[in-house]
Amino acid sequence: MANILVVGTQWGDEGKGKVVDCLTEKANVVARYQGGNNAGHTVVIGDTEFILHLIPSGILHDDKVCIIGNGVIIDPSALIEEIEELQRRGIRVEENLRVSKSAHLIMPYHILMDRAKEARKGEKKIGTTGRGIGPTYADKAARSGIRVVDLFWPEYFKERLAANLADINETLVHLHNTEVLDFNEVYDKCMVYRDKLERYVDDTDILINEYIKEGKTILYEGAQGTLLDVDHGTYPYVTSSNATSGGALTGLGIGPRCIDEVFGVVKAYTTRVGGGPFPVELFDNTGNLLREKGGEYGATTGRPRRCGWLDMVVLRHAVRVNGLTGLIITKLDVLDGFSKLKVCVGYKYRDSLLTEFPKELPIIQECVPHYEEYDGWAEPTNSVTHYNDLPDNAKAYINMIEEKLSVPVVMLSTGKRRTDILYLRDF
Ligand code: IMP
Repeated sequence: MANILVVGTQWGDEGKGKVVDCLTEKANVVARYQGGNNAGHTVVIGDTEFILHLIPSGILHDDKVCIIGNGVIIDPSALIEEIEELQRRGIRVEENLRVSKSAHLIMPYHILMDRAKEARKGEKKIGTTGRGIGPTYADKAARSGIRVVDLFWPEYFKERLAANLADINETLVHLHNTEVLDFNEVYDKCMVYRDKLERYVDDTDILINEYIKEGKTILYEGAQGTLLDVDHGTYPYVTSSNATSGGALTGLGIGPRCIDEVFGVVKAYTTRVGGGPFPVELFDNTGNLLREKGGEYGATTGRPRRCGWLDMVVLRHAVRVNGLTGLIITKLDVLDGFSKLKVCVGYKYRDSLLTEFPKELPIIQECVPHYEEYDGWAEPTNSVTHYNDLPDNAKAYINMIEEKLSVPVVMLSTGKRRTDILYLRDF
C-alpha cells in the first residue's frame, strides 16, 4: 500500500476512525498529526465498541506502531486513562504506542480557561469540547507552552509552570472569577504523569522518517475536519489546529513527498457539532431522522449533532485545500429508505448563486442552500459485499459525487462494523 493520508472533508465526525481502522490492516505505522482529546473516533469490532480520543485507532491491531505526533496536544491524564482502559480490554499499547517529545501538554489551567472563556462569550460561544484545545495551541504559538519533553527536566519544568501559573491565576481570579490552581498540586500530578508516560516518549520525527526510509507503509490520521481547520474552516468557529492535509507535514516532521495519496472521508450527508455557520442545516423532521438513523451524537461530549444534506460547496473546497486523490464515503446506509435525496450544489446569497465556499462569515450566515434532487433507494446497503450489488440509485448517488468533484471514490462504508466496508480500488 502507498503512504495514505486520511482527512475529514466536512466538520469532523465523518467516520475517520473506522476507515483508519480498516486501512490499518494494510499499513505498518499509523500516525496522528494534530488536535487532542477533542476528537472521538468510534470503532466497532464484533460486539465491542471502542471510542478513542487521542491514540490512533490503529492501536486496535496487535502489530502496528501508533505515533502521536508533535502537532497533537496531549492532556496527560486523558492519555493515561485511555492507555489504561485499552490495556484493561486486552489491547497491546505498551509495545506499539510512541508519543512525541515535542507535543505540547494540555495543562489543567488550559481546561479552566477554555471553559471560562466560553462561559463569558454567552450566545457567541464556539461550542468547544471544553478540553482546553484553544488555550493550549494559543500558548504554543505564544511560546509559553509546556511540552512532553519538559516533564523530564524538573527544574526547567518548574520554572515554566511557575511563570504560567502566576499569569493564569491572575486572569482566572480577576477576569473569570474562578478557582485558582496550586503550584505544588499541579507539579506533583505532572510528575506522576511523567512516570507513567516515560516508556512511550520518543523522537517521533526521527522514528517516522526512519520507517519511511525502510519502506514501511504509513497511514497518516487527521482529526476533526476541513471546515474546522484554523486556516481553512469557518473561522472563528473552528478548532485551533490544521486539520487539513498540510497539518501532517508540520505535525509529524515529514516532507511533502512522504505522502502518496490523500483520501478525504465524506459522510453521505453533513453534520456539525458546536456553534458556527452550517448552511445546509435542517431544522425539520428530515434533520431529526438523519440524526436518529445516523446516531449523530458527539463521541466526545454526547451533544446532538446538527444535520443536513450533502454539501458539494463544502466538498469542492475540501478537495482543493487538501489535494484529495480519493474519496471514502461513509454512512451510506443512513440514507437507505429515503425516497428523495437532496444535494446542495450552490448557495443562494441575495441575488447571486455562489459555487465556492465564502470566506466572509456574514455571507456564510446568510447563504441558503440551492439543491438538486435525486431518487433514493429502499433496499438496505449494509449487507452488500460487492459494489455491483448496491441498489442502482445508490450507485448513481456515488457516481454523482465522483463526477461533481472529479475525484474517484475508493472506499464505501455501509455500517458500523469493521466488515461493513467496500473497496472500490485495490490497495
Ligand atoms: P475545540 O476543538 O474543543 O476547541 O472546539 C472547537 C469546535 O470544533 C467546536 O465547534 C467543536 O464542537 C468542534 N470539534 C472539535 N473536535 C471535534 C471533533 O472531533 N468532531 C467534531 N467537531 C469537533
